[in-house]
Amino acid sequence: MSFWENKKVLVTGGAGFIGSHLVEFLAEGRAIVTVADNLERGKFENLKNVEKDINFMKIDLRNLDNCKKTCKGQEVIFNLAAKVTGIEYNRTHQKEMFENNLLLQTYPMKAAYEMGVQRFCQVSTACIYPHDAIVPTPESEGTRDQPEPTNIGYGWAKRMGER
Ligand SMILES: NC(=O)c1ccc[n+]([C@@H]2O[C@H](COP(=O)([O-])OP(=O)(O)OC[C@H]3O[C@@H](n4cnc5c(N)ncnc54)[C@H](O)[C@@H]3O)[C@@H](O)[C@H]2O)c1
Repeated sequence: MSFWENKKVLVTGGAGFIGSHLVEFLAEGRAIVTVADNLERGKFENLKNVEKDINFMKIDLRNLDNCKKTCKGQEVIFNLAAKVTGIEYNRTHQKEMFENNLLLQTYPMKAAYEMGVQRFCQVSTACIYPHDAIVPTPESEGTRDQPEPTNIGYGWAKRMGER
């Protein structure tokens, strides 16, 4: 029997690049999987191999009530929903990247807490590290100085999510 069998698992951002692979893995383990994604960047076709085995909610998670709807009855949440773009977009839209990614952590976490979800896994990024981070990179580098300047809005939001 798989560890995941019959576990109620929510994957936010589950129609995205990484999330859709996680959803396939969980569905193979016979978890009861719900995907919450507004399809801003993800695609439903990324889930075509498992579409009959999962629940899908097209929903914007920058809203607390929406997050509560998705969290209700869940045992585990993997929070992958994030505004993820390219380097040039990140560089020229720092405020938008900071705000969106902060909301996509704050509201899912608050909703999970209020709805009594026991386990919450927040996905971070290497963009939290400063440009001169030592290599190999210990996690302590992620609280030193500033995130690398190109991704500073995204990086600060993700640092806050980790904290
Ligand atoms: N791809 C990488 O190299 C990488 C590296 C480090 C960390 N990450 C992290 O992994 C996670 C997934 O990244 P990815 O590369 O799969 O990106 P992605 O853009 O493919 O997936 C993110 C998903 O979030 C969804 N989303 C965005 N805004 C939303 C909103 N307001 N409401 C609901 N859903 C929303 C998008 O539609 C998308 O499906 C992110 O948290 C990202 O920060 C990715």
